[in-house]
Amino acid sequence: MKYDVITLFPEIIEGYCKSSITKRGIENNVISVLAHNPRDFSKDKHKKVDDTAYGGGDGMVLACQPIIDCYNSIKKEENSTLIMLTPQGEKFNQKISKELSEYNQIILLCGHYEGFDERIRLILKPREISIGDYVLTGGELAGLVIIDSVSRNLPNYLNKEGSAHFDSFSEGLEGYLEYPQYTKPREYMGYKVPEILLNGNHKEIAEFRKQESLKRTQIRRPDLLN
Ligand code: 6GU
Repeated sequence: MKYDVITLFPEIIEGYCKSSITKRGIENNVISVLAHNPRDFSKDKHKKVDDTAYGGGDGMVLACQPIIDCYNSIKKEENSTLIMLTPQGEKFNQKISKELSEYNQIILLCGHYEGFDERIRLILKPREISIGDYVLTGGELAGLVIIDSVSRNLPNYLNKEGSAHFDSFSEGLEGYLEYPQYTKPREYMGYKVPEILLNGNHKEIAEFRKQESLKRTQIRRPDLLN
C-alpha cells in the first residue's frame, strides 16, 4: 500500500511514521508513506497557500491552485483513491478501513486550521472522511489514524504476536470488545487472576474469554450487538 499525504505539515506525518509498527511496515516494504507539501507548489511570491474568504469572516481558506497542483504532481498507481479529511465527511469505522485496504494507493488530503475552497471538492471529487464527532486542528492526525488502521488489515503488516492475538479473539467475535487480560503475578494487591485461566484447559479458556467479551460488549457497547 502506498500512502501519499498532502499536508502543510509533512513533519507530523514523517515524525509519526518513524516509530513502532509503522516504521517496521515501511522498512519491510509492506507500506510506503510520502508527504507532499502544497506550499512547494504555491505560485505566490510569499508561498501563500490560503486567503481570506469571499463573503467575509475571520477564517482563512485553502486556495485551489497549490492543492490541485500538488495533487496532480503525485504519481497515480492503478487502483488509487483520494480521501479528504474533514469533520464533514462520513464517519470512519472498521468497515471503511477494510474497504480501503483493497486499494494499492491512498492519497490523503489534509487541511489545517482552515477550510478548503469548495472547488477543490468539485474538481477532485474526493471521498470525505471524518474520524469522529469532535473538532481537530487539522486533518493530519485523522490521516495517521487511517494509515494505522488500514495498514493493520494488510497481509504481513502485523507480526505473529499481533495477529495471533486477534485470530484467537476473533473466532466469530469480530466487532466485539476484547476480553480482560492478565499477566504475572497471579495476585496483585489482593486482586487474583481468574482461576480458569490458570488451569491449562484451552477449550474452557476460549469459552470463558468469549463470554467475557460478549458480557463486556453488552454492558459497554450494546450498539455493536445490533
Ligand atoms: Cl478528518 N479533521 C478535522 N479537522 N477534525 C476532525 C476530523 C477531521 N475528524 C474528526 N474531527
